[in-house]
Amino acid sequence: MSSNPNISLTRYLIELQRSNQIIPSELRLLLEVVARACKSISHAVNKGALGGVLGSAESENVQGEIQKKLDIIANEVLIEANEWGGHLAAMASEEMDDIYPVPNRYPQGEYLLLFDPLDGSSNIDVNVSIGTIFSVLKKPEGGAVVSKEDFLQSGAQQVAAGYCVYGPQTTLVLTVGQGVVAFTLDREQGSFVLTQNQFKIPEDTQEFAINMSNMRHWDEPVKRYVDECLQGVEGPRGKNFNMRWIASMVADVHRILTRGGVFMYPWDKREPNKAGKLRLMYEANPMSWIIEQAGGASTNGRERILDLQPSQLHERVSVVLGSKNEVERITAYHRGA
Ligand code: AHG
Ligand code: MN
Ligand code: MN
Repeated sequence: MSSNPNISLTRYLIELQRSNQIIPSELRLLLEVVARACKSISHAVNKGALGGVLGSAESENVQGEIQKKLDIIANEVLIEANEWGGHLAAMASEEMDDIYPVPNRYPQGEYLLLFDPLDGSSNIDVNVSIGTIFSVLKKPEGGAVVSKEDFLQSGAQQVAAGYCVYGPQTTLVLTVGQGVVAFTLDREQGSFVLTQNQFKIPEDTQEFAINMSNMRHWDEPVKRYVDECLQGVEGPRGKNFNMRWIASMVADVHRILTRGGVFMYPWDKREPNKAGKLRLMYEANPMSWIIEQAGGASTNGRERILDLQPSQLHERVSVVLGSKNEVERITAYHRGA
């Protein structure tokens, strides 16, 4: 990669394509379009009340959650930006019941795009960081008509994954399996500029992220882990721990990518029939690949998330990700239980 400090996303992707065809041109175009859509979502987020984008849309999504106006706007922006380019066969979103095949009037491509258009919906109206998470899969060979089953691939099959966090800065984080890089949106230039080349998550950490209000519903291994952290220097861990919970997975993951930490959204007894709150295809898979590509680890408490075979599009999963040694410890507590 060039040592020129001012590398745009466009240039970065073209250089990736040139160096031994790490990514084909169709994938490069797809990623450029996703980035353009994120730019437009970022503008809408920034306008806030001035753009009339805050508040509830008073509709429900397939998971029974009340949609915010921005959930719907971000979903539409991603669909409209991506449907005509010719590189996709279909899209799937947390906010849509079924898959969205590319309309017949446009050429069909060989990729599948999945997204959580707006992650951290509860933070929209209070002006706290939110984001977009995306994952790219290849449509399996054969079968002219794209189907829901085509999407049911494990996270290990992803060909690209990323997120864009709309915070004090708008930052796009990306992996195509060659480590993790980040681009900051330069609003004057209107382009994403490479600002971090290769993240490395520290293997050890003294910071955990979990919604502590659910403590009474947790399973024993999670209780044990958090309890040991809370005992600090006097406890079995022999060190003090700090806690953070932003309630936007993008922002929590971005912090962990930057300075380490461990993030948990475990199964709990509130809804025992659900494997967890977070969605495997739109949240856990892309984030797990990013975390692993930066040297971290990600499990559902027992197995590596990227190895899980999804059985439904909107499948949920328990998530433990971040600094490797902590994730291994929590996973060992679950396996031993
Ligand atoms: P979404 O806004 O896409 O529904 O996702 C919210 C997720 C995730 O971003 C976050 O970590 C978690 O839900 C927060 O949940 P709690 O409100 O239960 O803490
Ligand atoms: Mn989300
Ligand atoms: Mn969402």
